[in-house]
Order: sequence, then structure tokens, then C-alpha cells
Amino acid sequence: MTPATSLFSPVEADLHILADNLKQLVGNDHPILSLAAEHLFGAGGKRIRPAIVLLVSRATMQNSEITPRHRRLAEITEMIHTASLVHDDVVDESEKRRGVSTVHSIFGNRVAILAGDFLFAQASWYLANLNNLDVVKLLSEVIMDLATGEIQQGMNRFKAEISIDTYLKKTYYKTATLFANSSKAAGILSEVSAQTAENLYEYGRHLGLAFQIVDDIFDFTSSTDILGKPAGSDLKDGHLTAPVIYALEEKPELKTLIKQQFKQAGDLEQALALIEHSKGIQRSRDLAAYHAKLGVEHIKQLPPSQSRQTLIDMADYVLSRLN
Ligand code: IPE
Ligand code: IPE
Ligand code: MG
Ligand code: MG
Repeated sequence: MTPATSLFSPVEADLHILADNLKQLVGNDHPILSLAAEHLFGAGGKRIRPAIVLLVSRATMQNSEITPRHRRLAEITEMIHTASLVHDDVVDESEKRRGVSTVHSIFGNRVAILAGDFLFAQASWYLANLNNLDVVKLLSEVIMDLATGEIQQGMNRFKAEISIDTYLKKTYYKTATLFANSSKAAGILSEVSAQTAENLYEYGRHLGLAFQIVDDIFDFTSSTDILGKPAGSDLKDGHLTAPVIYALEEKPELKTLIKQQFKQAGDLEQALALIEHSKGIQRSRDLAAYHAKLGVEHIKQLPPSQSRQTLIDMADYVLSRLN
């Protein structure tokens, strides 16, 4: 078992049910779109977001079984995430995702965009059928936020003046919003107090920020094999993430290379070396650890249970991926 799957053991059976249901939920009314959407479900990801939804569900339903609506929420969460990946890979022109070819590289951009839209629309339909207006509002806001995040990312390309604050706001829209709002929605389905709902939101928000910061560090520290795309891709595409923003404070030469969009041979390699020889990576690790810790403080407000403990351990898991 990978660390992720052994960590998820309290909800392992739930995640099996989820994997089966996801394939059925896509349906087969539109063969090409279902085939394209199912392609990524079949490859399967780490399923960290639905695992969190299920763990929050269990942690907030102490003395009773979780309901079919909790399960459906976990499925909707993974559908929304997968839809965003299909679109993200078109925008990033990525060739690989979850170890398989991306949807657009097999079916073309038009089908990939439609398949992503189709998944978002299906997720919205199942969401509406939960018959809980608060939950509908939380998750439909996520769908808006994800689009906002991609747009903000596009607008900030090669902008060497970007601050950590702007980066974190963009990261909230791109990634943390889904963690935050799906955790809170799971609590709402369990009818928790407003205070607990807020703690669940903050747990998801901080964990989601830590998760994306870690992913952004990987882009500098992992091999092409693991990433499924060349290391340094984010920088090459002008996506300035935490390691670069911190490195810019120490290495003014980096700014010139970024402004010129690495137009000369060797510019990208020089920029990567400057980042490597700065405190950028270490400071980004510290930033991820800071958010993971804040997340834990919020989840500790729940009554003790095995699921709560796993939610606490999740913060270590997110950071341990760096080792
Ligand atoms: C990828 O998310 C996109 C980011 C927010 C970094 P995951 O790393 O959770 O992707 P899967 O679902 O496991 O493939
Ligand atoms: C993932 O962000 C996209 C969303 C969260 C919508 P990234 O662009 O960092 O993810 P990878 O690196 O392609 O997996
Ligand atoms: Mg991407
Ligand atoms: Mg990334």
C-alpha cells in the first residue's frame, strides 16, 4: 500500500464504492464525452479530496452511519476536481496526467473542453439533487472559483512583481476552495453548528493551500518521470509560484530572465539554478508547513475519533510528499 492508501484505511471501503459509482454517474448517453470523462476516472488519482469529505462525514456523524448524501458529496467533489484537470491540461498543453495520456491529447481540444463542461454540468445536477441549498451554494461557488483561479494564473504569467499574497489568493481559487467548501459541505450534511462548519472550512482551506504549495515545489524538485512533464514546466510557462517569488527577493538577475521570458538558450537553466541556490524552496516548505499546522488546529476542534485523527495525519501526509 502507498502511504496515501494506508492513511485512508478508515474510509477504504467507502472509496471503493466511490470508484464504482463515479463510472456509473458519468453514464453513457454521449459515448464520446463519457469515454473521454471516464478515461481519467479509470486512471484514478490519489482521491485525497473525496477521502477528506468521507473522513469529515464520519468524524461529524460520531454515533451513526454516514448517509448516501455524504457519499454523493464525495463523488461530486471528485467529479469537479477531475473536470478541472481536464481543462487545466488543455490550458497547460500537458501530455500526461495520472500516468496516462491527457484527454485532449487523445480526443483533441474540442472534445476535452466539452468533456470537462459535461463533467461540471453532471456534478451540478447531482449537487442540485442533494436538495440542500447551502451545499449547492458552497459547491457552485467552487466551480466559479476554479475558473477565476485559471484566469488569474493566466493574467499573472511572467509578472515578476507578483507577491506571495497574490500567489496565495490565486492558490485559494485554483485549489484550496474545493478542499474548504467540500469539507464544510460534509459538515452541513451532518448538521453541525455554524462554528464547526467554519472550522471545517478553515481546515480545508489551509490544507488545500499546503497541498498546492507542495505541488508547486515538486515542479522544481521532482524528476520528469514522476511529474509526467519536464521539471521546471511551471517556470517555463511563466507560472511564478512560491519558490520563485521567494528567490526573486535574493536574486535580482532572476527578474530579467523572467521578464524576457527565457528567450535565449540557457536562460531557463540559469533561472532554475538561481532558484536552487536560493532559500526559495526551503521558505516554500516552511510556508506549506505553516498552513498544514493551521489546518490541524481547526480540525482539533472536533470531538476525538479515528477519522479526526486521520484528518490530522493528512497534514503530515501532504508535507511528507516532499521527502
Ligand atoms: C492535481 O491534484 C492538481 C493540484 C491541485 C496540484 P492531485 O494531485 O490531487 O491529482 P490526482 O487527483 O491525484 O490525480
Ligand atoms: C492544477 O494545478 C489545476 C487545478 C487545481 C484546477 P496545476 O497546474 O499546478 O496542476 P498540475 O501540476 O498540472 O497537476
Ligand atoms: Mg497544470
Ligand atoms: Mg502543478
